[in-house]
Amino acid sequence: MEAGAAQVEEQKRAAAVRALDFVRPGMVIGLGTGSTARYFIDALATRVRAGLRIRAVVTSRESHHQAEAGGIELVDDLDQPLDLAVDGADEIDPRLNCIKGRGGALLREKIVAHASQRFLLIADESKLVDRLGRSPVPIEVLPFLWRMTGRSIESLGGRPTLRMAGLEPFRTDNQNLVLDSAFPRVDEQLAAMLETIPGVLEHGIFLGMARTAVIGGAGGAIRMMGALA
Ligand code: A5P
Repeated sequence: MEAGAAQVEEQKRAAAVRALDFVRPGMVIGLGTGSTARYFIDALATRVRAGLRIRAVVTSRESHHQAEAGGIELVDDLDQPLDLAVDGADEIDPRLNCIKGRGGALLREKIVAHASQRFLLIADESKLVDRLGRSPVPIEVLPFLWRMTGRSIESLGGRPTLRMAGLEPFRTDNQNLVLDSAFPRVDEQLAAMLETIPGVLEHGIFLGMARTAVIGGAGGAIRMMGALA
């Protein structure tokens, strides 16, 4: 039976709270974006107010506001890896490959995930898929000649549509556009081909990046996937 909206929220919250087990004093932590990441930032802020000392890097303006309001010390310039990044996902496969970017923060999310020693996914169980590609892949593109960039994406078998925010095109925090594109197959080859298109700034296919996933399930169950140590 599919979980109702309230149960899904509870699953996200439970996964986010469990992710606190991976936090240690003194860490520099990447904070993701989206509804699940929001629960993690909330839970982390509560610990910080209780005396935990950590610093954080945020992946969006939205997470910046929330973390700042919660009293979390923020940094945006580092010359060494982050200890941990915690973020949600739109889809997660059994090898912890994932699709991200429905919230539009994929570029910074990928930079932060790549710069972290451990990239930890938090999600409700509806995000688990046997193979990636159930939902469109978000692709951040430069506004300059974006229709031509869209054509290049079509030449890879994609069906890109411009993401809108009401009547206006959606703009990322970096002032770029997002093309959401279904593909017949989402795999390494597609990721590599997308990276050859000059106007593509980043795509939401995160392969081989997450080391661990904490998945909230029915009745408060938590499923840990990947490496725990
Ligand atoms: C933000 O750009 C996204 O990558 C989110 O992390 C992803 O869409 C998951 O969001 P929810 O936690 O809201 O499902």
